[in-house]
Amino acid sequence: MAWGNDAADSRLHGTNIADSVIDTIGSTPLVRLKRISEIHGIECVLAMKMETTNPGGSAKDRPALEMILAAERSGELRPGGTIVEPTSGNTGVGLAIVAAQRGYKCVFVMTDKVAPEKVSLLRAYGAEVVVCPVAVPPEDPTSYYKVAERLTVERDAFRPNQYANPNNPLAHEKTTGPELWAQTGGRITHFVAGAGTCGTITGTARYLKAQNPAIKIIAGDPDASVFSGGSGRPYLVEGVGEDFYPAAWSPDLYDQVIPISDEESFLTARQVSREEGILIGGSGGMAVATAIRVAKAAAPNDIVVVLNPDSGRGYLSRVFDDQWMANFGFLRECDECIAAVLDARGDTPSLLYVNPSTSVRNTIDLMRANGISQLPVCKNTPPFAAAEVAGAVDELDLMEAVYRDSSVLDSAVEQVMGPKLPTIGVGQKVALAVEMLDVAPALLVLSGGRPLSVLTRSDLLSYFEVLSNG
Ligand SMILES: Cc1ncc(COP(=O)(O)O)c(C=O)c1O
Repeated sequence: MAWGNDAADSRLHGTNIADSVIDTIGSTPLVRLKRISEIHGIECVLAMKMETTNPGGSAKDRPALEMILAAERSGELRPGGTIVEPTSGNTGVGLAIVAAQRGYKCVFVMTDKVAPEKVSLLRAYGAEVVVCPVAVPPEDPTSYYKVAERLTVERDAFRPNQYANPNNPLAHEKTTGPELWAQTGGRITHFVAGAGTCGTITGTARYLKAQNPAIKIIAGDPDASVFSGGSGRPYLVEGVGEDFYPAAWSPDLYDQVIPISDEESFLTARQVSREEGILIGGSGGMAVATAIRVAKAAAPNDIVVVLNPDSGRGYLSRVFDDQWMANFGFLRECDECIAAVLDARGDTPSLLYVNPSTSVRNTIDLMRANGISQLPVCKNTPPFAAAEVAGAVDELDLMEAVYRDSSVLDSAVEQVMGPKLPTIGVGQKVALAVEMLDVAPALLVLSGGRPLSVLTRSDLLSYFEVLSNG
């Protein structure tokens, strides 16, 4: 690959020295996923566009560059100016790289759902990072959208707004699409990618469909995201899926949007990393899980390309941390695990819960009718995400509250609820439950990232009894 360099500097003639890191954005490799294809019985050619080889390690370097160059041309960004952007990290890195080269300051606003490594990474590029709570609606003044709006005004800054900026999809239309067309000799039949701002999938689709309208465009999507028909409820995969439709959302260009669970996304990310030696993150795992489905149904001569947006390095404390994975019920640590305790209980009922607005009176009735002493308080209706658990109620606490003031019976349970129950994964060790129940009255068991059941000391006692009779 030859980088463009300063033609006027004769010392560079005949060299392959890039003028700056900006000139190394794009032209990423396309690599076959042969081992994944073997494992999953895929007959067509399945290849991955490796966006990790961009200087910032993600696909977002492309729109970052395009958005800044366009803002310089339009005068929105002046020499020494400031850039403010709400971003989950990757766009921030791209912007920080281009800003460093061109002399701008950067302020990034993100939610507390983002892996802590991503925050440190942006600070390493000299950027200011403001972290906001994820659990507030977009119109709340502390939401990351609103905080970014306020900072843009206060600092007289340029706001690239990747969710609305046409230069985001344009970057992919100008670079990613043509690269894929050239790299496959015009024989690409399917393009698969995750969608967040929809810049990647829409821009690439525009170019590819213009070359050959028969090319199929498939989006992988977290199963709770609105793109695949979800309601935008919480999920754990980062950077993809939304609870609203960004400007670049173009359903006419997409042939299919396939919902993928957190569990399948994470397990696929781990499988690709181990089997192919390509370290990818949760959203890359989601894209590959989608591509596996597409490729299985494709004809042997088809070429299915999946875009991997970034590296697994940003997710070492989550997707690649066995403890974290096990605690959410994504991994089994042992045979003798919590699942066996639930099996021994036999009639594992669906999770009993109350909503925060349920009255204390109805909560007590529910507990009495089912002979239970603890109940989780969850927002919405099942299936819940772990993030939708708001707290818990305990028989003892309710008794004390009602004794002090009987009018509490008609209050919403959220007025008197206690903290959330500690969580344990369905595949974690029984010994861990014994240790935790020494201090906690009950545990909330998670499976596939979702609350499954409440585990009490009496459940463990029954299990030990079954074992000893066994
Ligand atoms: C990790 C990751 N994957 C995928 C995407 C989706 O790309 P796009 O925003 O172009 O739809 C993003 C977007 O931020 C991302 O950060």
